[in-house]
Amino acid sequence: MSKPLRIALAGLGTVGGGVVRLIETNAALIERRAGRAIEIVAISARDRSKDRGVDLSPYRWEDDMTAFATDPGIDVVVELVGGSDGPALTLARRALAQGKALVTANKAMIAHHGIELATAAEAAGVALKFEAAVAGGVPVIKGLREGAAANAILRVYGILNGTCNYILSTMEDTGADFAAVLAEAQAKGYAEADPSFDIDGVDAAHKLAILASVAFGTTIDFAPVEITGIRRVLAADIAQADALGYYIRLIGMAETEQAADGTTRLFQRVHPHLVPRDHPLAHVDGATNAVVAEGNFSGRLLFQGAGAGDGPTASAVVADLIDIARGDAKGPGAAPFSIPVAALETLAPADSGPRMGRAYLRFTVADRPGVLAEITAAMRDAGVSIESLIQKGRAGAGGTDTVLVAMVTHEGPESAIAKALRLLHGSPSLTEPPLVMHILSD
Ligand code: NAP
Ligand code: HSE
Repeated sequence: MSKPLRIALAGLGTVGGGVVRLIETNAALIERRAGRAIEIVAISARDRSKDRGVDLSPYRWEDDMTAFATDPGIDVVVELVGGSDGPALTLARRALAQGKALVTANKAMIAHHGIELATAAEAAGVALKFEAAVAGGVPVIKGLREGAAANAILRVYGILNGTCNYILSTMEDTGADFAAVLAEAQAKGYAEADPSFDIDGVDAAHKLAILASVAFGTTIDFAPVEITGIRRVLAADIAQADALGYYIRLIGMAETEQAADGTTRLFQRVHPHLVPRDHPLAHVDGATNAVVAEGNFSGRLLFQGAGAGDGPTASAVVADLIDIARGDAKGPGAAPFSIPVAALETLAPADSGPRMGRAYLRFTVADRPGVLAEITAAMRDAGVSIESLIQKGRAGAGGTDTVLVAMVTHEGPESAIAKALRLLHGSPSLTEPPLVMHILSD
């Protein structure tokens, strides 16, 4: 048997604790599969005295996790602290610069600094692996890098945030209030340290930017991702969508497209969508994630499983460690983004205006004559064709003189809807900004 792979764990929270438990529980199986043991030699977090529900006394405690980078007794640094910058990034940079392999679950750091870190890993000839950063326990990075490697990926999209999916599907099932369901998701360990990253769509956008890079062989470009979260989705929208034959899901979507000037552009968006009930993503409930990748030869591939939580995320982290232990993460196929950084393409962002599709629009309006006519006139003037329209009761919740007007449009360019909203902007008839949700097409 070869020498053990010696790892150091920085971060002992939900994921770090899960990694300790998994390595201890499955030690013998991991050793057989990896060809050598994976041995935790050192650990670090903020508070040494915290009870983490697992016996950490066998492991050497380090107050300063950056010491892992220069420790000759450590082969791989496992970063499970979180945050795009700060201590996680300092540790990652130092570890790679010192020739240590790095495994991380940190999508924020990879989305913002992944190319820099991959460049450092490639220069040092060491692994940088981040399976757990996208869709928790679902092996979608491996699926795209390896299983779908022969395909041109035409489009990649899916449910990328467990917290949002838990909130939306629980609201759908129970009619419970948004805040109460968010608290449940936090208690289950799904949410980020700052849960606004989840509900405002930023976490899903981090994952989408990483997925797009692996799927299309492009540099990560987080800044242009169009992001809308689920904060403004009401129970009434969920009921309305249900009546129309849809479920609401936060969807991240990326695709390459030809612009009018002939250049290839990258479209990336995270947005709550109406998903037709017969679409495979419609029945993805709870903290489950699901990613659809459309390959030009494979056709539609669906990767699905638990997107958050200690066990599933630890499963992805340890799978990366097993790859490193086996030596799979070295050699020409080891580039962190599947293609060496120098060969990744950089694509300009696509303009969403010409994109064709159908949409759900919800207006909260003053309950007085002429308001509906004002809205439909704006639609007419912008060239938006209305397929169905529902005006529902009074909004309640302090809004006894407001009503909800929801409509579904026929297929048309997104620029037309944007124009209609511009025409209505500032109208005293609208008591809050309209909510637009796109309808997912096949
Ligand atoms: P968490 O429960 O908040 O744990 C974070 C850990 O990092 C804690 O042990 C904390 O120490 C430690 N830490 C924080 N700041 C530190 C600092 N300045 N110096 C030293 N240690 C510090 O977070 P988590 O949910 O495990 O997430 C960890 C990473 O995995 C994040 O990047 C997250 O995005 C990613 N991720 C999480 C999930 C999930 O389901 N939770 C899924 C996929 C990916 P103390 O415990 O002493 O406070
Ligand atoms: N907060 C994230 C989620 C954790 O809810 O999906 C998994 O990345």
